Amino acid sequence: MTRELTTATVFTGIAELVTNDGLLDGADHCEHLGRLSDAAVVVQDGRIAWVGPASQAPPADELQDVGGRAVIPGFVDSHSHLVFAGDRSQEFAARMTGARYDGGGIATSVNATRAASDDQLRALVAARVAEMRAQGTTTVEIKSGYGLNVQDEVRSLRIAAEFTTETTFLGAHVVPPEFADRRSEYVDLVVGEMLSACAPYAHWIDVFCEPHSAHAFTEEEARVVLSAGQDAGLGLRVHGNQLGHGPGVRLAVELGAASVDHCTFLTVEDVENLAAASDTTVATLLPGVEFSTRSPYPDARRLLDAGASIALASDCNPGTCYSSSIPFVLALAVREMSLTPAEALLAATVGSAKSLRRNDIGVIRAGNRADLTVLDAPSYLHLFYRAGVPIAGALSPGGRHGR
Ligand code: NIG
Ligand code: FE
Repeated sequence: MTRELTTATVFTGIAELVTNDGLLDGADHCEHLGRLSDAAVVVQDGRIAWVGPASQAPPADELQDVGGRAVIPGFVDSHSHLVFAGDRSQEFAARMTGARYDGGGIATSVNATRAASDDQLRALVAARVAEMRAQGTTTVEIKSGYGLNVQDEVRSLRIAAEFTTETTFLGAHVVPPEFADRRSEYVDLVVGEMLSACAPYAHWIDVFCEPHSAHAFTEEEARVVLSAGQDAGLGLRVHGNQLGHGPGVRLAVELGAASVDHCTFLTVEDVENLAAASDTTVATLLPGVEFSTRSPYPDARRLLDAGASIALASDCNPGTCYSSSIPFVLALAVREMSLTPAEALLAATVGSAKSLRRNDIGVIRAGNRADLTVLDAPSYLHLFYRAGVPIAGALSPGGRHGR
């Protein structure tokens, strides 16, 4: 039997290391960032082997000096819809002059996605994932939802699974136009043949539960979809409370969903429910959507102050937010939603990891995945201070991704 030889790499020259590790000896635990200055990280077999002051770093096979830059946990983008073809930039332009978003444009993306070949779709997803890595994202959740028939939902998930283990079946995105007069038949299809065919490629199930859109699903329909997904062994996620007050948050908490996403319009009761469920259900905020739909931003302060768990993610999709940039989301969260830079960074790393029920990412700690993001700056504060400047990139062996 041969033993595989592995290479250990020590990253040095880290001016500031944000670990998010509340237990790290010698770290500055102010604002829960577990910060070390003049730090080193040893990586072996894709995992973190050691974290500490550079002066105490153990020997390794290779050394990479990051040259006085800051290193942070890779961003965890826990909400995206990357499997689509076509262009809806006209819809964005119309919104900027007053048009309202109601989910109707999803049908445009469904037509274009169904018409695309596997190779075309795969290339589109690959380009979007690369764009994310180049901006510091190291884990991405990818939903289906632009196929909306058995064949194209399965195809979307199969392609998504080539890029991530965090795949989400979103057959209940909207009722496709061919079922407009037969809503209950569509729900039957989603929870029947479509779910059976998609479940092998999906980790999660999601539903667009939104009474303010004629295209999306009611509370009762959403409950049927989520319960069927749960029975099929999938974890639950919900698009809820995006366009107005509604049942999404209540339903997500009741069913023990890992995440309820958008949370733009919340009642006092919704906030209380999320606070009481903070160990189970994360409120995932997607401020790129409010930017791209000219809507009010979610009240992140109120959620945090009440004790809810929050995450920040991109929602990268062709309709409400065609931005793959977590740095953009972070800048919005601080400037428009009154989060501190530390709170925003925690929400897009350890918070979004929690929404995926993952504890091997989001924190730089021995044993965790070696998902590191490097900043062309000496401190994480520059992510916000230098908004719009592309300073963040995922750190790959050999250097920064995409550079
Ligand atoms: O998360 N709200 C539902 N789904 C997406 C938008 C999809 C689209 O318009 O293409 C969202 O905002
Ligand atoms: Fe979404």
